[in-house]
Amino acid sequence: MFLLSLGSICLVLALWFGFNVKAKQKNFASLRELTPNVQDGQYVFNASGCAGCHRNPVGTDRLELSGGVVLKTEYGEFYVPNVSMSIENGIGAWSLNDFANALRLGVSPKNQHYYPSFPYTSYNKIKDQDLVDLWAYWQNLPAVEVQNIDHDLSLPYNFREGLGIWKKMFLKNDLVGSDEEKRGRYLVEALGHCAECHTSRNILGGLKIDNWMKGGENPSELGTVPNLLETVKRWSNEEMEEYLASGFTPDFDVVGGHMVEVIESTRLLSYDDRVAIYNYFKALIND
Ligand code: HEC
Ligand code: HEC
Repeated sequence: MFLLSLGSICLVLALWFGFNVKAKQKNFASLRELTPNVQDGQYVFNASGCAGCHRNPVGTDRLELSGGVVLKTEYGEFYVPNVSMSIENGIGAWSLNDFANALRLGVSPKNQHYYPSFPYTSYNKIKDQDLVDLWAYWQNLPAVEVQNIDHDLSLPYNFREGLGIWKKMFLKNDLVGSDEEKRGRYLVEALGHCAECHTSRNILGGLKIDNWMKGGENPSELGTVPNLLETVKRWSNEEMEEYLASGFTPDFDVVGGHMVEVIESTRLLSYDDRVAIYNYFKALIND
């Protein structure tokens, strides 16, 4: 066991410092040709659960994107940043292109890599129109003047440079679910980023595609995350829809842990979209 973990540590260090893949913004010029729709952007915002992480942990308004929530992981503690429209403390000075680079490539306006604790590994699959609409909506959100707190990470993870090779290995555009459940697949795999918690990870922190949605250790809390392939065997369409709308399970239990924030967004989706999510999981077990 000791040798195994020593081996993994060497591997991680070799990868982290051995390959330096620089972050560089791209120009997503074609996005500017689309006409933004603020109302649709609000729906994308809800479906993506951005507020679940970026909201003010002490406030009650989920549109106050002050940051400050702490994500405790085995790499250290991530302090979710302020992404409100504040020029000084948030992303108020950003362009649509900056926003697209963050979500699609995990690259900042200063050409640095973002940590995948910001789940751009899912959001990179966002559709062009949805991205443009989301940004249009975002710009109407309030500016909140709260300063960011630096992450508290252990070596070597406190160096962002190593993320380049990680992204080469794990930042993919591939979709896993069936083509027949397109809407559900988009809601689950891109916007809802459900796999980020419900799929276990390898020693390098990449999602194990073989274990897609089969749950496992909780990445940022104690305990485990349920296997959703088992859940859809037990729960009917109506039961899952009810859970995603209200947080109540079929046996009158109430949702807990980080799933609480997820329900905050799925409850705002349309009935049809919650059913599409169920159908997506159902199709996974029927494959
Ligand atoms: C699971 C928690 C989580 C969710 C959900 C999440 N984020 Fe983040 N986000 C983070 C973390 C953590 C960082 C900091 C990453 C870093 O420092 O590299 C971040 C960083 C960012 C940044 C960069 C901020 C800066 O100052 O450079 C932007 C922009 C952003 N997120 C937008 C979004 C959007 C848009 C959504 C929804 C589509 C979203 N986030 C959902 C955790 C999250
Ligand atoms: C931030 C981590 C996280 C994300 C993202 C997440 N979940 Fe969960 N989920 C959990 C946790 C933790 C639980 C266990 C909740 C509990 O103990 O009450 C859970 C429970 C569930 C359950 C109940 C399963 C059962 O058998 O009791 C369903 C259904 C579910 N999630 C669906 C989803 C869907 C659909 C998405 C994407 C829209 C999603 N989850 C995204 C963490 C997450």
